[in-house]
Amino acid sequence: MGFSITRLIEERQADQFDLHRRYINPSMVRVLEIIGFAKQYVRGEGAYLWDAEGNRYLDLLSGYSVFNMGRNHPKIRQVMHEMLDLARPNLVKMDCPLLAGLLAEELVRRMPPGLDAVFFANSGADAVDTALKFARAATGRPRVLYLDHAFHGLTLGTLSVNGGEVFRKGFEPLLPGCDMVEMNDLEGLERELRKKDVAAFIVEPIQGKGVYIPDDDYLPEAQRLCRKYGTLFICDEVQTGMGRTGKFLACEHWGLEPDFVTIAKSLSGGYVPVSAVIMRREIHKAVFGPLDRAQVHSTTFGQNEMAMAAGLAALHVLDEERLVERSATVGGMLLERLAALKERHEMIGDVRGKGLMIGIEFRPPRPMRLRAAWTAVEAAQKGLFAQLVVMALMRDHRILVQVGGPGVNIIKLLPPLIIGEEEVEMIVSAFDDVMTEAERVRGRVWSLGGQLVKHAMSRQ
Ligand SMILES: Cc1ncc(COP(=O)(O)O)c(C=O)c1O
Repeated sequence: MGFSITRLIEERQADQFDLHRRYINPSMVRVLEIIGFAKQYVRGEGAYLWDAEGNRYLDLLSGYSVFNMGRNHPKIRQVMHEMLDLARPNLVKMDCPLLAGLLAEELVRRMPPGLDAVFFANSGADAVDTALKFARAATGRPRVLYLDHAFHGLTLGTLSVNGGEVFRKGFEPLLPGCDMVEMNDLEGLERELRKKDVAAFIVEPIQGKGVYIPDDDYLPEAQRLCRKYGTLFICDEVQTGMGRTGKFLACEHWGLEPDFVTIAKSLSGGYVPVSAVIMRREIHKAVFGPLDRAQVHSTTFGQNEMAMAAGLAALHVLDEERLVERSATVGGMLLERLAALKERHEMIGDVRGKGLMIGIEFRPPRPMRLRAAWTAVEAAQKGLFAQLVVMALMRDHRILVQVGGPGVNIIKLLPPLIIGEEEVEMIVSAFDDVMTEAERVRGRVWSLGGQLVKHAMSRQ
């Protein structure tokens, strides 16, 4: 009998966790089991996933924002089929493939003024690494500044500009010359830039870890200071791009004109790994200008035609379905409804975000018995309360969501941009229910804490 992937999936579906335990990452299997996330998903469509028993889950993770257009979007899927049937001459390498040119043209059309040179890579980290390398080449300077809480990927280069201890620990020493500055501290930033040895300052316009939004004047002023001292300004839009925050790029909220933009994730509608760095032509020229340098930076699968075609289809869908506008309006509605819950639930300390990138931050309760429960959970591990809420949303409401980062009591929502009023209602009523339960010490939420606390304590 010939090979059939459908048959293979059917025959082996039940082995998925065993296979991962044996060959991939047993710790991840254990984590999923502990938090009640070890599901056998068998189908995904739009904003939903289905498990082997036919249960439906609302997906507010969107594969960390690769499914802004929803899972298995029919238009992008059709383009993928079409591409396979065309049997195109992909990855000739000594070539200038048409689809890469077309996607570059579409991206440049959507960029702030001055960004008209594109480099295609495979992942967000790959794109950020590229921007860091190019900034050094274009300025001849060694240093890079980044923000506290920053997340730009986990390769050695991008880890060197990571603003959190958890990810760095165990992997040091990292790249020399990378220094952290505090968000909203313009004086501190200028103090570093004045040394005139900084190639680049890299920011996420809205930070993914914790959904931190800078003060309104911070990014425009930071950009002005970068220009003043000859430092290139990188907006990493890997997560915030592709309409996530209610604009095509989050930097548009402040009218920024960065020297580099990086995008990835939803650029291929979730089908094929892809990323892009869009930069000023003179930066690109500084790297690739001399003919003997025309291939000095490259990656084998960059410009691959499946990714380029998926990218063209994803941008088409974003426009045709007006998903950027939808992200702004539905996101505004969701933010407002969630913020209104603060009046009813004192443990909701802050609700913030733009478009459909929303963070909910919790704070300790006042009543004594509840506070004791909070303190016990937080003593075992900081940020564990948010994890309990995540677990309760999954167990009681089949809503898939994540904590906003390690060690913080923040939950992050990244739903597909296609959600509507029905999903907004589901999310708000589920949160309302879970927070009501969290106000009862003997309620369903705290009862989830036992195993988590035991596990956290065993690691201390
Ligand atoms: C802002 C930002 N930059 C870079 C990355 C790294 O992307 P990747 O995981 O595709 O390497 C991420 C991933 O979440 C991100 O959010």
